[in-house]
Amino acid sequence: MRVYNFSAGPAILPEEVLKKAAGELVEYGETGQSVMEMSHRSKEYDAIIKSTEQLLRDILGIPSNYKVLFLQGGASLQFAMVPLNIMKTGKADFVITGQWAKKAYEQAVKYGECNVVGSSKDKTFSYIPELDKSKFNPNADYFHICENNTIYGTKWSELPDTGNVPIVSDMSSCILSEPIDVSKYGIIFAGAQKNMGPAGLTVVIVREDLVGYARPETPIMLDFKTHVENDSLYNTPPTYGIYILKLVLEWVQSKGGLTAMKEINTKKANLLYDFLDNSKLFSATVFGKDRSLMNIPFVTGNDELDAKFVSEAKKAGFINLKGHRSVGGMRASIYNAMPTEGVAKLVEFMSEFEKANS
Ligand SMILES: Cc1ncc(COP(=O)(O)O)c(C=O)c1O
Repeated sequence: MRVYNFSAGPAILPEEVLKKAAGELVEYGETGQSVMEMSHRSKEYDAIIKSTEQLLRDILGIPSNYKVLFLQGGASLQFAMVPLNIMKTGKADFVITGQWAKKAYEQAVKYGECNVVGSSKDKTFSYIPELDKSKFNPNADYFHICENNTIYGTKWSELPDTGNVPIVSDMSSCILSEPIDVSKYGIIFAGAQKNMGPAGLTVVIVREDLVGYARPETPIMLDFKTHVENDSLYNTPPTYGIYILKLVLEWVQSKGGLTAMKEINTKKANLLYDFLDNSKLFSATVFGKDRSLMNIPFVTGNDELDAKFVSEAKKAGFINLKGHRSVGGMRASIYNAMPTEGVAKLVEFMSEFEKANS
């Protein structure tokens, strides 16, 4: 029996996708082979990678002056790849909204001067800081944000106005969860292992005028230009991950695209937030407009009770509810693939736990 998996990543995938992949695992279509066994340069695989890109372009509304890259190395490699490629004058602005933004900052300072224009560290990253625009460097090469903070459960509700400075957004934990305006960004990157597919694939969407300026010491594999010029086939791409992304994108489309995703995700998140806001035992750690639709941290205020909850929830079939080791408590990651029923049942379980423990 499948459990309800609230993992932050690698995370739950749509059951329909897994079943489709299982049906095609040994023989894909009329090819007599598994996608895993295919040459990445074959005609059959070419059709897969091209249609994956097209679906992503259609679903996200990616303008034609943006390139889509299917890479490896995780979102973490982008923390270094971005400055290596676009830090032309050696300056960038950062907003530190948690561990992932901090890690990106720590990589970028190796290549230039990084200006921290805001941070929410004072309250364990439980909010998105208000920014003072006069602190922005109008000549920065880029402005980095982590759009959804997986560990702390915060999300930017509005993009900062950076003028001509390209926004670089780490969308690892919110991509495909709602419609976005790609033209407002210079670069979007995301590890696939939350809303897109299995670990091992990293999607990068980069505005074409930002490609071609890598620092001279940039290894060829880390130069965006290499992957743009070779349609992500300079070397062997994560072929199976790209194929699963294709199935996930078909699933998203069949549900009504990103407008429908946002509607479903809002309904799901509100089920849990409403319960938390009315509970006498549990409480949310993030409030108001900064609340994430994807990652919802919560606490009882008592470490022992938190541990008891996580353990009893696991026995009842709700797994991976333990909060990140750096913050404790609990966290429910409710990505696109988590059915509404899963959240409703979790809330029911929490309500019973509350009755039994208060
Ligand atoms: C927002 C965010 N950025 C970056 C990462 C790191 O991703 P990866 O493990 O793909 O390098 C994660 C992983 O959970 C994340 O949630």
